[in-house]
Amino acid sequence: MLSAKSAEVVEATLPVVGGAIGDITPLFYEKMFAAHPELLRDLFNRGNQANGSQRQALAGSIAAFATALIAAPDSRPDALLARIAHKHVSVGITNDQYRIVHEHLFAAIVEVLGEAVTPEVAAAWDEVYWLMANALIAIEDRLREESAAAQGLDPADLWRPYTVVARHQETEDVTTYLVRPADGKPLPPAAPGQYVSVRAELPDGAHQIRQYSLSGAPDGVLQFSVKRATAEAAGGPDGEVSNHLHATLRAGDVLDIAPPFGDVALADGDGPVLLASAGIGNTPMTAMLAKLAATGSTRRVVTVHGDRDQLSHAFRADLAQLTAKLPNAAAHVFYEQPLGDWPADRTGLVDLATVEVPAGTTAYLCGPLPFLRAVRGQLLTAGVPAADIHYEVFGPDLWLGQDA
Ligand SMILES: Cc1cc2nc3c(=O)[nH]c(=O)nc-3n(C[C@H](O)[C@H](O)[C@H](O)COP(=O)(O)OP(=O)(O)OC[C@H]3O[C@@H](n4cnc5c(N)ncnc54)[C@H](O)[C@@H]3O)c2cc1C
Ligand code: HEM
Repeated sequence: MLSAKSAEVVEATLPVVGGAIGDITPLFYEKMFAAHPELLRDLFNRGNQANGSQRQALAGSIAAFATALIAAPDSRPDALLARIAHKHVSVGITNDQYRIVHEHLFAAIVEVLGEAVTPEVAAAWDEVYWLMANALIAIEDRLREESAAAQGLDPADLWRPYTVVARHQETEDVTTYLVRPADGKPLPPAAPGQYVSVRAELPDGAHQIRQYSLSGAPDGVLQFSVKRATAEAAGGPDGEVSNHLHATLRAGDVLDIAPPFGDVALADGDGPVLLASAGIGNTPMTAMLAKLAATGSTRRVVTVHGDRDQLSHAFRADLAQLTAKLPNAAAHVFYEQPLGDWPADRTGLVDLATVEVPAGTTAYLCGPLPFLRAVRGQLLTAGVPAADIHYEVFGPDLWLGQDA
């Protein structure tokens, strides 16, 4: 809980700090990476640093946390914290690193805001930082301990070597990998919707970490699927890790993988479920659908997917087969540029106007931000409460804490 005095100061200075956050975060990362180059090389995603998305997510989360503290000083924005904590544990950050972030973040704040940072202002924001850091540390400790206990590991190091037992091509750009722990110990616990982190050693010697959602749960292995991030599709350079994995990772190779984490997972229940995805966003949805099929679920399941065309649509056959196994499931597929005959009302971007959304639906969404924004809006219009709409994003979450 924020002290009354600090709450007053934070409320008064929130517009100034918020207004300068776009200058503060790049400077913070610049200072931190100058002092600790290994953090950029081996821990942070340098693609997200280059395109600025991680900076935006960090700034947004601190502003959202401070705003929430002021609005409700006695409560904690747990959803916001959980999303960050799962990501932190997945990449393997340590509690002592919160001091490093604190040092460089506050140095950047002082440098940008100058004399506006009186001792009183510094103390109030210090309190916000440590409230957030300590809340994250507590959640992260618990997540690490649970995962470590289930695997018989030391919570201080959850990375394990995995052997690739098979690899197959889903589409021209999407490859699925099946991996098994190389140490012979049991698989970690996993829930459909969660992701693993993989640590790839790149040609320049850097170890870069990326997340990949589980795309199914075949016996005895973890399964994830990687889409090559191409310059053509992204508008930036070719993605480093996805292309490296496509080019080099073969059956028999060993790769460091952290166990599944992620705050968006299919919840148990009997009510209707809607799984909506676009492009490679169907990896977690395929895992959820596979779980529903494997457990003989009788829930109403509505799957909605959007892709460029039939050839770019990964898991197209799985979608048909899994849907057929479920007694109350229907799949709706939209193609922007369908090949051959394709219904007109399923041509173009995903549009729920002609899809029945049953009352009491819990929705899971995954895809690019414009897709998430559009589908979330359509679900709200269809009467699905915001609290029943869960989403995963394949990058730093720029919606964190905001009612998008
Ligand atoms: C929770 C989660 C789950 C995910 N699940 C999946 C999944 O199931 N399957 C999947 O394929 N992916 C998934 N991802 C995405 C995945 O983690 C990677 O982000 C993706 O593979 C791209 O990584 P990369 O190293 O190839 O690209 P990067 O090198 O990290 O590049 C990423 C983007 O940044 C741009 N960029 C890089 N450098 C610059 C620069 N200098 N200037 C401007 N732009 C730049 C690139 O053009 C590209 O668009 C998931 C991500 C998250 C967070
Ligand atoms: C109170 C302090 C902190 C806050 C508010 C914070 C906030 C965030 C946020 C919002 C994300 C993105 C989460 C998502 O969208 O999934 C993130 C990711 C991350 N954080 Fe933190 N963080 C803090 C401390 C730290 C510390 C101490 C480290 C370690 C040096 C760290 C390393 C990372 C890394 C490596 C990622 C993933 C980056 C990426 O993939 O681009 N964070 N953090």
